[in-house]
Amino acid sequence: MKVRDSGMPSEDYWESLHDVPAILDAFGFGPDTGDVVEMGCGYGTFTLPPVKRIRGTVHTLDIDSSMVARTRARTPKNLSARVVATVRDAFIDGLDVPTGSCEACLLFNILHTEEPHRRLLAARACVRPGGLVAIIHWRSDVPTPRGPPLAIRPSPEQIEAWARDVGGFAPPLTLLTLPPWHFGVALRRSHPGQPRRTGTPPRPFTVNLEAISSL
Ligand SMILES: C[S@@+](CC[C@H](N)C(=O)[O-])C[C@H]1O[C@@H](n2cnc3c(N)ncnc32)[C@H](O)[C@@H]1O
Repeated sequence: MKVRDSGMPSEDYWESLHDVPAILDAFGFGPDTGDVVEMGCGYGTFTLPPVKRIRGTVHTLDIDSSMVARTRARTPKNLSARVVATVRDAFIDGLDVPTGSCEACLLFNILHTEEPHRRLLAARACVRPGGLVAIIHWRSDVPTPRGPPLAIRPSPEQIEAWARDVGGFAPPLTLLTLPPWHFGVALRRSHPGQPRRTGTPPRPFTVNLEAISSL
């Protein structure tokens, strides 16, 4: 089942709306980063730039075969061994990587999905303890040129609440400002024995909302 409101404008326009290097920098992707899995590659906007800077493989998938074809076609030959792009329904078929095998899972512009808890659970499952679940989405506090309707657009607080419900993420949640139109949330999978966030503790995460509203 395709995520609601996940249609794409033209590739050039979509990519003009994202500062991809700044977003990857903010999450700390670099030469030490191992394997990454991405839910919904789209045009490969966040598939190819990471593979150029990490040592691992990027496993990506999309329900739309034209998106996977475009991502494959854009992959330089010398990197193709480290890009695995598959046509797949992430909801029905899962993410297609072994449990705990990845350094990071990208949920970029996709968490306005139905059943966000299940998507977070699937993302958490595929990263190693201490691994990163990296989320970006469109801001709701400023007008944006694209993005799903505000009614289904998640806020940082909403994502914080979902992460707390799902549990198994280590505090603190890190909120990233990704000008001009996005915010990011970095969740780290708990190590065994580390406090696991479940239920509603009084102050589980550090959410720097001032940083967002001052943009
Ligand atoms: C808004 S786009 C974001 C693409 C990319 N993450 C980015 O930020 O550039 C969402 C993508 O998710 C794909 N998608 C929607 N539902 C999906 C599903 N159930 N399984 C896999 N991919 C899906 C869509 O085809 C689309 O390419």
